[in-house]
Amino acid sequence: MTIIDGKKVASEIKAEIAQEVEQMVANGKKRPHLAAVLVGHDGGSETYVAHKVKACEECGFKSTLIRFEDDVTQERLLQTIAELNADPDIDGFIVQLPLPRHINEQAIIEAIDYRKDVDGFHPINVGRMSIGLPCFVSATPAGIMMLLERYQIPTKGARCVVLGRSNIVGKPVATLMMQKHQPGDATVTVCHSATRDIKEICREADIIIAALGVPGFVTEDMVKPGATVIDVGTTRVPDATRKSGFRLRGDVDFDAVAPKCGAITPVPGGVGPMTIVSLMRNTLQAARQR
Ligand code: GUN
Repeated sequence: MTIIDGKKVASEIKAEIAQEVEQMVANGKKRPHLAAVLVGHDGGSETYVAHKVKACEECGFKSTLIRFEDDVTQERLLQTIAELNADPDIDGFIVQLPLPRHINEQAIIEAIDYRKDVDGFHPINVGRMSIGLPCFVSATPAGIMMLLERYQIPTKGARCVVLGRSNIVGKPVATLMMQKHQPGDATVTVCHSATRDIKEICREADIIIAALGVPGFVTEDMVKPGATVIDVGTTRVPDATRKSGFRLRGDVDFDAVAPKCGAITPVPGGVGPMTIVSLMRNTLQAARQR
């Protein structure tokens, strides 16, 4: 059984990106510049954005963090997006989700210039991805594909079960896994809250991608011996032994499932670091294209 070490792969890729950035700068180009917009003080979002800013430093990028309180108006956010769209120094930017309930998330996503949408959430990028055109692919699905590639997990003709149908992970990763490309070329089944016989469907899978946000959902009896299991879950569960008071739990019952797998991602240290590195890759791509 192989533990897929996302942290290690992510550091290797960040080093590759940093090298390319220094080359760009030596050739007289400007440093890639990523901006992040963070609304409110949600613990998870604070942590993710802090990791993104730190990754920018490691890659030699410039970064700008723009913060608003929870009561910011949609108009104010749209104005900031218009400024970032027009700013020639900004190569790409993200608006960290989720947003407070009074803000229409889709309106915010659609206001972002798709050429600076390094999250790959804009319908133009989603549409281009679904028909296999060059675009920004959203970070978590892109990170999963990079892990499958680096660990040479066979995907051609494989049966892949995706658990969860979110716009951010489930739907795009299912699309990428079925594309006529390597990694990809898999036979994909997407399971969700209305799916019957999930256990039986999972037992047929060569690759399970669990992205439903239910800690420990994938149990040992759902996994075929030798299968590859990719765990996208990052639920915070209380843990009094930690200074933070919580720990992250994935969607897979790791201790019971791991011995049965061919390969498995841990939580933390699997998909999470790859998500950040995919955002860095998209930002570098945005900078190259400008
Ligand atoms: N919230 C959870 N994941 C993401 C992400 O990849 N990008 C943004 N902007 N918000 C998120």
